[in-house]
Amino acid sequence: MEVKLLDFTEFVDKRGHLLPLEANKNIPFKIKRLYFIYSTNKKMSRGFHAHKKLMQVAICITGYCTIVLDDGQVRKEIGLNSPKKGLLIDKMIWREMKDFSKNCVLMVIADDYYDESDYNRDYGNYLEMLKWLK
Ligand code: TYD
Repeated sequence: MEVKLLDFTEFVDKRGHLLPLEANKNIPFKIKRLYFIYSTNKKMSRGFHAHKKLMQVAICITGYCTIVLDDGQVRKEIGLNSPKKGLLIDKMIWREMKDFSKNCVLMVIADDYYDESDYNRDYGNYLEMLKWLK
């Protein structure tokens, strides 16, 4: 499984940092939704699902966390600790999020609206679905 980490360019001067994100430019799709995960619990993992169609980019704006990506064959852990890095999470990739720092704010950008029917929240079903897609 190839881990795709996007590098974002920031503009820095003595006033501070500015980091723009634009659809179909440094974000590789048309953006339809944004959400933030924050006030998390270091001991509690989240996610545990794959999306049938949705593509997402996860950016740790503040603090750090770990994202586990699993394509049914390989499992990789990616540490995020910079707003300058975006982790591309493709459709049909199982993800878990864990080890949140106290101040972690994880922003997720998605190419479609929230739709519970796009989720696969059962790992066994996810593996079955991968077999069908082969
Ligand atoms: P959930 O999928 O459990 O979060 P995570 O992927 O971090 O484990 O989502 C938590 C709740 O928020 C759940 O009731 C669905 C709801 N939700 C929305 O209404 N809109 C959204 O865009 C998202 C991502 C979740």
